[in-house]
Amino acid sequence: EKGTYPHFMLKETDEQPLVIRNIIQKYQDENGELVIDAEIKAALAEADRLYIVACGTSYHAGLVGKQFIEKMAGVPVEVHVASEFSYNMPLLSEKPLFIYISQSGETADSRACLVQTNKLGHKAITLTNVPGSTLSREADFTLPLHAGPEIAVASTKAYTAQLAVLAIVANALAKEKGKSVNFNLVKELGIVANAMESITNQKEEFEKIATEYLATTRNAFFIGRNVDYFVCLEGALKLKEISYIQAEGFAGGELKHGTIALIEEGTPIFALATQESVNLNIRGNVKEVVARGANPCIISMEGLNMEGDRFILPRVQEELSPILSVVPLQLISYYAALHRGCDVDKPRNLAKSVTVE
Ligand code: M6R
Repeated sequence: EKGTYPHFMLKETDEQPLVIRNIIQKYQDENGELVIDAEIKAALAEADRLYIVACGTSYHAGLVGKQFIEKMAGVPVEVHVASEFSYNMPLLSEKPLFIYISQSGETADSRACLVQTNKLGHKAITLTNVPGSTLSREADFTLPLHAGPEIAVASTKAYTAQLAVLAIVANALAKEKGKSVNFNLVKELGIVANAMESITNQKEEFEKIATEYLATTRNAFFIGRNVDYFVCLEGALKLKEISYIQAEGFAGGELKHGTIALIEEGTPIFALATQESVNLNIRGNVKEVVARGANPCIISMEGLNMEGDRFILPRVQEELSPILSVVPLQLISYYAALHRGCDVDKPRNLAKSVTVE
């Protein structure tokens, strides 16, 4: 089923524009509006706070989802790592609603939380690629990702699908709450899909970056601010899980509070710059690490780009940039792992779906 692709990860990375277009189609009503089931919308609107619970990449999608929902709909959201939530439940609001994000719908850590929140009588939605999976069956509602089967252990298209569906949720909730969203989501998601395509068509560029920065390094850091920080966490996870390079994502401003001590001559630093409000700040952080010898690779967005940036993303609606900016990071990780001779689709010590707590 890989067709002409050498690995599922590459195929699934390439499928992302199609997946986004498919999601638009599946969530559109007869008027072309992006909508979610009335029951789900009502449950969301009734809640005074949303709790997103997930693991790994799905947790990283949750962090971006919080931003979407809080900024667009004005509803507070907490995001929790499932394995922590289940043994250390935070104080809950009066009317909580749970959103479980899980590609497989089978992750034991997330299920352990769902069992508990169900026992407490709280409503839950599962955002999953596998309707009919355990988490989908045991929650009150399911929001399907429509990404098609994801085979590679490293999650790619499920992550961007999760972000797109979370944006649809945020948009629908905003409308329900009478908040105006200052962009047309259907149109802007379409633009993101096209932009993704232009990125996946430039694979040689990312292969070059991977060889240039990651061929022999022991470690690598990803820095960003605002939503870029969350994408950095995902970029670092991708790189570590398939290339075994020690990689970490950091908030740009946090470096000087300790991490900067790790910077040595030649340490690769990937910096994301897609957010206008913090563009100068992240550039300042890059200067700080360069002064300590780091080798920076800046990925910026058209309009915010500056001299010396290594890759410029096509301009998309700023709020939606994570759906796009993750793609170069996926491809850089892929080529880094490939050139280091790693088993890209089946990295050591990992399983596609983690069914033990
Ligand atoms: O199926 P899930 O989304 O619940 O899986 C959660 C994590 O195990 C998963 O995202 C993992 O982090 C991926 N291998 C990351 O690429």
